[in-house]
Amino acid sequence: MPHPAESLLVRALHGERGTRPPVWFMRQAGRSLPEYRELRVGTRMLDACLTPDLAAEITLQPVRRHGVDAAVFFSDIVIPLRLAGVAVEIEPGRGPVFADPVRTAADVARLTAIDPAEVAANAEPVREAVRLVAAELAPAGTPVIGFAGAPFTLAAYLVEGGPSKEHLRARAMMHADPAAWHALAGWLAEVSRTFLTAQTDAGASAVQLFDSWAGSLSVADYREYVAPHSRAALDGAVVPAIHFGVGTAHLLPDMTLSTPTPDAAGAAPGVSGRVGPGGVVSCVGVDWRTPLDAAAGILGPDVTLQGNIDPALLQAPWPVLEAHVRDVVARGRAARAHILNLGHGVPPETDPTVLTRIVGFVKELGE
Ligand code: CP3
Repeated sequence: MPHPAESLLVRALHGERGTRPPVWFMRQAGRSLPEYRELRVGTRMLDACLTPDLAAEITLQPVRRHGVDAAVFFSDIVIPLRLAGVAVEIEPGRGPVFADPVRTAADVARLTAIDPAEVAANAEPVREAVRLVAAELAPAGTPVIGFAGAPFTLAAYLVEGGPSKEHLRARAMMHADPAAWHALAGWLAEVSRTFLTAQTDAGASAVQLFDSWAGSLSVADYREYVAPHSRAALDGAVVPAIHFGVGTAHLLPDMTLSTPTPDAAGAAPGVSGRVGPGGVVSCVGVDWRTPLDAAAGILGPDVTLQGNIDPALLQAPWPVLEAHVRDVVARGRAARAHILNLGHGVPPETDPTVLTRIVGFVKELGE
């Protein structure tokens, strides 16, 4: 029986190049699939995430339909906050909304008084769902990717109380009250780390840390206020980690999380869970703005790259999209290894047959 540890995805994360890149899509589970929309009728997003057989089935749908090389666990970055008892909902078409935004030092103190161990104690539905998926995929040796939100991206929602464009309130807190910021981000790191551990304990073979909104940060702020906490979220990870953000061209070298900031609160230089010579991160996810050969030039030989089909081109005629995918794969050869993905999530209006066609095309490249 093939083992997920020998899958194209996990080998690519360890820097091994196969005859073709492994392929999966961020947000492959979800609204682009009619079978997902049908299953979700009558169930709120976060309730679906915490119903093990439903979450497992939704996770498996895109694997069956597209034949992708990995499942990504169907859940959400705010699930560990829900498990900690924080009042949060996903508003359709909008995103995560918090009943009580965390804006002042007093708000932070109230939140961080919650023991992150609550997340582990309440995570059984997460573990059960991942176990179901891993068991179903075991005969094929298909790996399950677990994930969590990075502390900054979670804070961007939590401090605003909902989605925002420039994440001004979270970025302001860093400078207006650094102690409160570090307390908040440190707590979020622990909460995300606990969520990742629940998934790897239950059989996830890799994890992805989503710092989707990190691109709004300056390099200086990223180093001082964010990177140490993202590193802490991955500390002790027992499987290889992918680190992804949007608009992060200026942050790429820092996204390996390999150079502990000297004044980082509580961050030790020899972080455990180091999986590659580059640091705690095996693979950096790149959005569609930076060509992969340019990213490889910046990141060097110790990091695998993931990306970076432009989601907009999923709407283009096939010959145009095919040429683009070919170009992405060719540029990906500049990295030690490459995992083919989009530069961000699958847009809900995507024709899913286009995704299946990309998978078929990439598999032919390996023949
Ligand atoms: O990738 C996958 O298929 C796995 C599942 C997954 C979801 N959310 C399911 C989901 C993952 C990995 C996430 C991560 C996530 N959630 C991120 C980071 C990834 C990224 O896109 O940058 C962020 C920022 C969130 C927060 C969030 N949750 C947003 C912005 C939204 C969209 C709101 C909307 O309706 O447009 C959600 C909801 C959400 N998470 C959906 C899915 C399938 C849609 C829910 C629905 O069906 O209505």
